[in-house]
Amino acid sequence: MASQFTEDVDAIRQGKRMKALILSGGKGTRLRPLTYTGAKQLVPVANKPILWYGIEAIVQAGITDIGIIISPETGEEIQEKTEDGSQFGANITYIAQEEPLGLAHAVKIAQPFLGNSPFVMYLGDNLVEGELTGFLQAFQTQRLDSLILLCPVSNPSAFGVAKVDEQGTVSDLLEKPQDPPSNLALVGIYFFTPRIHDAIAHIEPSARGELEITDAIQWLIDNKQPVGSRQLPGWWLDTGKKDDLLEANRIILDTKLEIKVSGEVDEDSELIGRVTIGEGTRIINSTIRGPAIIGSNCVLENCFIGPYTSIADEAILREADLEHSVILRESKVLQIQQRIVDSLIGERVELKMAPKRPKAMRFLLGDDSQVELT
Ligand code: G1P
Repeated sequence: MASQFTEDVDAIRQGKRMKALILSGGKGTRLRPLTYTGAKQLVPVANKPILWYGIEAIVQAGITDIGIIISPETGEEIQEKTEDGSQFGANITYIAQEEPLGLAHAVKIAQPFLGNSPFVMYLGDNLVEGELTGFLQAFQTQRLDSLILLCPVSNPSAFGVAKVDEQGTVSDLLEKPQDPPSNLALVGIYFFTPRIHDAIAHIEPSARGELEITDAIQWLIDNKQPVGSRQLPGWWLDTGKKDDLLEANRIILDTKLEIKVSGEVDEDSELIGRVTIGEGTRIINSTIRGPAIIGSNCVLENCFIGPYTSIADEAILREADLEHSVILRESKVLQIQQRIVDSLIGERVELKMAPKRPKAMRFLLGDDSQVELT
């Protein structure tokens, strides 16, 4: 018995029995119009879907058994792109959540997958700096039933908020409180033992009709189960909105981008600083000042691309000048005389201007599109 117990503890310590649950459902209303057709978790940051950063962080922490909660609206696209996880060295199980009934509801329907394993729950639209390993170790060595991660924010009312004493002991958790007790928001990464399933069985849906994970953790606290907290040392981005996404893009390009040029760059072009160019892309008479990433099979001719720009595969840009922007796949930006800044352009968009000063403007914009001519 004793040796079995030691083995179990060792297995848990090494993350062997630990699983991960990534929540990748929802409708992504805040990123409309991009998310009318696609999942918000697949919107790319530095040309890589947000969701994949989470998967990579989880695998890096030694956890390879991953369940992904998907919704009927976007689940298929997530499965098609992310596949069975082998590209990440993981084994992914997809779990359908038919209705968005809350984060704790997602855990509830994932119970057959989770069994009695401890697990990390990761919200698929969250992006954080740094590794999970240190938090995982703290969760395991302190024998907590839950470890939550906190980050000071300027708008705590938009998040779950924690009241914590000087030792990091959490006394209260409130979901989107009007009168927040602190500025410490709950980051969308949580560590749990199977005791969370008991907690979820005891809570009721909140005013917004959802089973809140915040309420389940509060139940653990109220029932004297050990709940710990750690402040995130680096940045955290909840990529729900356009400016958050541009900021995430800026930070990832700033901190993670490497120089890698696979396409063709003609002799009239210049690459300055850290620039990545994908296969089959042609750069003609253009200047690219990094950090910037250009995907595969793009054409850029007579362009200036400034820092913090990500251009996805198969985009065509001619006579364009842009910086601090994200352009998704198969879009065309042609003959725009003004500099494009702080912009997020979806898939298959065409932006074109008359070569001289335009006399009229013609738009075909989807619902929730935004155009600013400043
Ligand atoms: C959810 C949680 C909230 C947490 C946030 C982090 O909010 O309910 O407590 O702070 O994720 O991203 P939601 O994104 O559902 O509004």
